[in-house]
Amino acid sequence: MATQPVEVNLPDQLALDRLPRHIAIIMDGNGRWAKRRRLPRIAGHRAGIKAVRQVVETCARLGVPYLTLYAFSIENWKRPHTEIKLLMGLLREYLKKEIEELNRQNIRLLVIGRIQDLPEAVLKDLQNALDQTRKNTGLHLVLALNYGARAELVDAVREIVARARRNGTIEIDEPLLSSYLYTSGLPDPDLLIRTSGELRLSNFLLWQAAYAELWVTETLWPDFTQKDLYQSIADFQRRERRYGGLGLS
Ligand code: FPP
Repeated sequence: MATQPVEVNLPDQLALDRLPRHIAIIMDGNGRWAKRRRLPRIAGHRAGIKAVRQVVETCARLGVPYLTLYAFSIENWKRPHTEIKLLMGLLREYLKKEIEELNRQNIRLLVIGRIQDLPEAVLKDLQNALDQTRKNTGLHLVLALNYGARAELVDAVREIVARARRNGTIEIDEPLLSSYLYTSGLPDPDLLIRTSGELRLSNFLLWQAAYAELWVTETLWPDFTQKDLYQSIADFQRRERRYGGLGLS
């Protein structure tokens, strides 16, 4: 996909040596963005892809190691069939068109969710994009697809129980449970961004976001720009993270 490279016009207050290691984003407000313009909802999702491109490229250029985007939740199947079909189409389009650009920017694509339940055609394009970006060593771009945090925990517990049945016994602690989640091997998110002003986690990374710093903006996702991303990171860098302790080091 031929796109203009994103300029990294760094604001002074941003410290590159204290970037969040993992940013996770609930991209909300595509429908409202479209409604305000009297456009069909899918136009909002299409505009949302532009914002995805800008945020992905900015994170890659800044040197943020992990970015997770909530692209399709398990609950999203409740939407009208036509919207789901168009969303899946957009996703396939993104996966096919973007591989070249992801490789050029050394971005590795990863995925979390009940992937096996996605339509076969999506699965095929997804597998292809995962394979073709496997060797990249820059930003890890994690797409949450058919993702739900409760389903993730249920899947983990099922697998742990199956292993216990095979092995007779199993010691369960936090690292073990983490290792059975879809995010096994990924660091927990440090900064969780939600657009469009809703104050909810919406079944996103419930276990992993236990100590994430939350940042909510009224901006609708298609209007989210590099400037908003910088502002969220600058705010993150001003916060004191205590993880339940007293914060004295
Ligand atoms: C929420 O907006 C957004 C989604 C359910 C889908 C997000 C998808 C994209 C941005 C495009 C595909 C993404 C990738 C990574 C290719 P909403 O429809 O719930 O908005 P509303 O709350 O205003 O109705």
